[in-house]
Amino acid sequence: MSAQPEPEPDVVIIGGGVIGLSIGWRSAQQGLRVVIADPDPGRGATRAAAGMLTPIAEAAYAEREIFQLGRESLRRYPAFASELATASGLPTGFRQGGTLQVAYDGDDLALLTEMRLLQESFGVVVQPLTARECRAAEPMLDPSVRGGLLAESDGSVDPRLLAAALLRAAAAAGARLIRQPVTEVLCTAGRAGGVRLADDSVVQARWIVLAAGWQSATMPGLPAGLAPPVRPVKGQIMRLATTAAMAAAGLPPGLLRRTVRGLVHGSSVYLVPRDSGELVVGATQEELGADTAVTAGGMWELLRDARTLVPGITELELVDVVAGLRPGTPDNAPVIGPSELPGLVLATGHFRAGVLLAPVTADTVASFLCTGSPDPIWRAFAAARFAAAGRAVSPQPESALT
Ligand code: GLY
Repeated sequence: MSAQPEPEPDVVIIGGGVIGLSIGWRSAQQGLRVVIADPDPGRGATRAAAGMLTPIAEAAYAEREIFQLGRESLRRYPAFASELATASGLPTGFRQGGTLQVAYDGDDLALLTEMRLLQESFGVVVQPLTARECRAAEPMLDPSVRGGLLAESDGSVDPRLLAAALLRAAAAAGARLIRQPVTEVLCTAGRAGGVRLADDSVVQARWIVLAAGWQSATMPGLPAGLAPPVRPVKGQIMRLATTAAMAAAGLPPGLLRRTVRGLVHGSSVYLVPRDSGELVVGATQEELGADTAVTAGGMWELLRDARTLVPGITELELVDVVAGLRPGTPDNAPVIGPSELPGLVLATGHFRAGVLLAPVTADTVASFLCTGSPDPIWRAFAAARFAAAGRAVSPQPESALT
């Protein structure tokens, strides 16, 4: 019997990071025929990410809409993670322990007070903690820590486990993974209608979803001015691990009970513990183009600040160092929704929050692909905002700072 040709998919998703895989899973669950194209799914920024689910602790001035999107996605996380674990039979490392933000010196404490006012202006009540209360919450903190803020609803997930679970769940729901890069988006009669792959084969579909992280900006085949303005923002990160002897001595896995975000003489560092005993320490934020070298200086900065806050980390085993490229936009907000090119949907530019924003992005994009109705939650995230603001629609120069 001759093999049947694959039926034409409804949607081709360009990019198998946490955003593309989540959209693929949710869309296949809705009954769409899905193809995900990525030569190395689950790697890139997803593999480097710490997996903090911390819209409150990462709130920033002039980013109220990003904060609200993050909170909505966090609200969806427990169901997303539990459904995913059931569908895949794999763990995701989802935890809901909160985030403790801490300040090392007086200036850091002043910055933390400003942070609390910002969080309150966003309608969030965080709990201010004295130095003593910080150490009661996290006994491994250095006694010099001056004070903190506890955001109890923040959480974390392990992005590497998440990606593995998404791959399996998407496949179980019927999505087809093609391990090849897309070399061109194909447009006919003013509409995106397919992609060309590295082996020169073509896959046609009603919808093309561009979820290629920082590489979305340079995707060949898009009409001039349509590529979303995404640039790579390098982040270096390290993974440490508690030993069996430490666990036997009663220390918590990863030394901490919850994520700690610290300010140390004005420099920012975070430590994310996992049930496995891993402690992720991150991250640098560098405007160096597509450079993924792990540098001595980057590791030194992370270790310097992390050790200042939690001296015991020097006893941990160093298990991994990695650099990833976050997809940054000119206003730090993602680009989600239909583009000006019919048939092309954008889901990119999630910058520091791709893992956090995966559930809300996936749910709303999958629903759009089925109904054609854009979600009102996307209002602030349309690609058109850059043209409207008169900003460049090409990546910023490498020297630009966020
Ligand atoms: N969300 C943390 C980071 O990008 O470093």
